[in-house]
Amino acid sequence: MADESERTATAEAPRGAGKGAAAEGGRMAVVVVVALLVGAISGGTMGALMYNAPAADEQPEPGQDVSFELKAFITGYEGVGGAIDGVINPTLAVNKGDRVTIKLTNGEALGHDLKVDGFAAQTDLVTAVGEVDTIVFTASTEGTFPYYCTVPGHREAGMVGAFVVGSGIGGPGEEQPGPAQTPDVANIARDASDVPPPLNRNTTATVHLWMETREVVAEVEPGTTNTYWTFNGTVPGPFFRVRVGDTVVVHFKNSPDSSLTHSVDFHAVTGPGGGAKATQTAPGEETSFTFKALNPGIFVYHCASPHIPTHVAMGMYGLILVEPEGGLPPVDKEFYVMQGELYTKWPAGTAGHQEFDGEKLKNEEPEYVVFNGRWQALTGPNALLADVNETVRIYFGVGGTNLISSFHVIGEIFDYVYPEGDLVSPPHESIQTTVVAPGGAAAVEFKVDVPGDYILVDHALSRTIDKGCLGILTVSGPENPDVFKPDG
Ligand code: CU
Ligand code: CU
Repeated sequence: MADESERTATAEAPRGAGKGAAAEGGRMAVVVVVALLVGAISGGTMGALMYNAPAADEQPEPGQDVSFELKAFITGYEGVGGAIDGVINPTLAVNKGDRVTIKLTNGEALGHDLKVDGFAAQTDLVTAVGEVDTIVFTASTEGTFPYYCTVPGHREAGMVGAFVVGSGIGGPGEEQPGPAQTPDVANIARDASDVPPPLNRNTTATVHLWMETREVVAEVEPGTTNTYWTFNGTVPGPFFRVRVGDTVVVHFKNSPDSSLTHSVDFHAVTGPGGGAKATQTAPGEETSFTFKALNPGIFVYHCASPHIPTHVAMGMYGLILVEPEGGLPPVDKEFYVMQGELYTKWPAGTAGHQEFDGEKLKNEEPEYVVFNGRWQALTGPNALLADVNETVRIYFGVGGTNLISSFHVIGEIFDYVYPEGDLVSPPHESIQTTVVAPGGAAAVEFKVDVPGDYILVDHALSRTIDKGCLGILTVSGPENPDVFKPDG
């Protein structure tokens, strides 16, 4: 262990108790009450921390009992806990061998937990104001380890501090994922053929959309689970279809099982936040709003609750089609595909339960790039199906959070593309690859002439082979040697 002065320098939080107490009780208790992190996403307002440590100038001996009390809150802390005078995210310093107790009290009605990297130390999620969970572990390894809230986005918003053992030299090292969890939904990927039929209506109407946000665990690939935040339990959320001029009533519900507030911003809406303001909805609550679909087009919708990039990355996006007057030209098959990214702690192919990695989100470096939420989701039994001579339309959107897609179908040429979801201008013709922005969409149409498997990709191909962005369109029917014939 380093000398006393060096050690003290790393420990911002007062701690310690008299050696006499230790001798007397056989163990020493140090109690530090602090607030775990506070940082409004937007404003950076810092609340603070109540912090109430016994006065003591002596450092405890190794192998003592040390207790910390932390209060978790990230928003709305005015009035939470009162006194604002102290340290946020205090450094928690102990000696190697200490038995550490951390009591986490929730300071607000938003889910939080606390995990210390490098140790089997993670509280349960506390969701109600005043709810408490306590962990006890032994500080068996010297080093500096982050403690933080594992709710996606919260560490990035500032809920992180340092747990220092002894000299503070060393760190968590390679962390392994926990075991795969029991899925809440059998298949996170929305069925690509789940597209409501054309409206075929030449009058406007009032249309009701029903949305429920749910936080679920599902397989991202065989043997690996991931936590997703969803609209209606799949990624992407439902495909909605209305007509220009329609009055649209959005009924928005956040599942009582959620840990967070969710909302929806429809790019088809003209009004504040695209509905995001009207639908900030706490767990178990319901909201609604009404809008007039003024513009035809293919529009993205997504959650717009803080931290927004995280909510989108967790799977909260979908498409709404606002049909122009007269609708779109008829085709034989319509499909719904959305591209997104998963920012996980471990690379694709790692078995166990993945964890969200906000640093990778910030750096725009996803481990998975996926169609419909899951590694190679639209393959095997979930492939898109068509017959020779049919016309196919794919509504293709990018939820993101960050990557631009270069959408391409290997072995096909798009006869028509509605770039940027534009249903007003004439479509582009005879296109190989179309670029779709995050928060953007397009439709592509083509006739399938030759049987076989056609591969849907983002032509930034590293995303396909290594990160899972792959789908298959299987075309069945008679060979067409006039168009394609393998030699030999
Ligand atoms: Cu949190
Ligand atoms: Cu959300």
